[in-house]
Amino acid sequence: MKKSMSLLRKKDVSVMLDAGSHSKLARHLSGIDLVLLGIGAIIGTGIFVLTGTGALYAGPALPVSFIISAIVCALAALCYAEFSSMIPVSGSVYTYTYATLGELIAWIIGWDLLLEYGLAASAVATGWSGYFQSLLAGFGLELPKILTAAPGAVPGETTYFNLPAFAVLMVITLLLSRGIKETKRINNIMVLVKVAVVILFIVVGIWYVEPGNYQPFAPFGVSGILQASAIAFFAYLGFDAVTSAAEEVKDPGRNLPIGILGSLAIVTVLYVIVSAIMVGIVPFKQFEGVDSPVSLALKVAGQDWVAGFVDLGAIVGMTTVILVMTYGLIRLLFAMSRDGLLPAVFSDVDEKTHTPVKATWILGTIAALLAGFVPLGTLAELINIGTLAAFALISVAIIILRKTQPDMKRVFKVPFVPVLPILSVLACFLLMTNLAGFTWIAFFIWTGIGLLIYFGYGRRRSNLHQ
Ligand code: ALA
Repeated sequence: MKKSMSLLRKKDVSVMLDAGSHSKLARHLSGIDLVLLGIGAIIGTGIFVLTGTGALYAGPALPVSFIISAIVCALAALCYAEFSSMIPVSGSVYTYTYATLGELIAWIIGWDLLLEYGLAASAVATGWSGYFQSLLAGFGLELPKILTAAPGAVPGETTYFNLPAFAVLMVITLLLSRGIKETKRINNIMVLVKVAVVILFIVVGIWYVEPGNYQPFAPFGVSGILQASAIAFFAYLGFDAVTSAAEEVKDPGRNLPIGILGSLAIVTVLYVIVSAIMVGIVPFKQFEGVDSPVSLALKVAGQDWVAGFVDLGAIVGMTTVILVMTYGLIRLLFAMSRDGLLPAVFSDVDEKTHTPVKATWILGTIAALLAGFVPLGTLAELINIGTLAAFALISVAIIILRKTQPDMKRVFKVPFVPVLPILSVLACFLLMTNLAGFTWIAFFIWTGIGLLIYFGYGRRRSNLHQ
């Protein structure tokens, strides 16, 4: 095969479907489980921590920013839904692009998604640690200062290691290593708790909204609203993690679209109402420097006891985000390794638990060490750029596959192709152009490292090379 051709080599979709249907992973997940898995991955740091920052950019128009980012995500989610109903195998968008745009693009996408899942798990663990420590403080307990944050994370303080962030990731790794069935049960309970807490906020908070706080509605105009949208985008990340469970889902062609679109729809409604109530209770300027904006709103309303519940719910909520992101990370590497692009250890499935136990421990430990030693706040934008690049490519892939494989069975179809996928690509680029220059440089460096690994290892070891 000529070199240029080999970069474009694609996986045969029917072979992939066959591999998926003979997967050693056990099929335990229903449509409802997937919706819960999606909500588990989505509601977290975005709504519990970042809404305060968003309010400073958008003012009372914050719910509009949430609607805009929901539209960007919904366009991509429709494309995800079509792909997942057509090729229900592990590996998310990486797997889909392998069948459509070829091995090299698939590798780049998979490599970029490592940013989303890997860094998000560690970054959210850092946010979790902050809430956990303030809960401990409420009981008069304090960790030794050096164990409260990564080196350099708190200006002017000597810290060595973020112990709570490390510990929560190790506990989640232990859970995941025991298999999806056990993890699912715990995840579902935690998701119900966090949704209950969000609804509690709505039911209590709505009575304290002051219509005067909505005036002026958009003090920083359209550009402020768009900047807040770029932040709110992070709050929606995670719905795509549903697709990484494909090989563990019953009737995946039908249930995957339900999981993706269902979780996104529910979360959008909750986010828009919560953000509208928050800026209705608290004059937006008061969110300056606040990292628990939801409980601030309740305190302003004089509902301190509800604020306590919400703090607890935030901890539970972030736990499920870390759990599903880590799960997605492991399943993504599982898929890349099964294709020969990464060492075989990542796709080794344990006979007893039907789970990639070795990959779980290796990746869980790396994510935990990252959360313990690296101050991840500054890398958050990298997560967004990696994800937006993946969303744009999946939208292109939908158009290509409609042309190259028109007869393939699609249980779910994106309406108005190619208009909607093209809008999706444009929307992703619009948000990407709002990200900092530093983020773009870091993104190119990361992609460069990925290419070195591909040309040094994966290209020759790929199953398609045989
Ligand atoms: N959407 C996830 C969160 O907000 C990443 O924590």
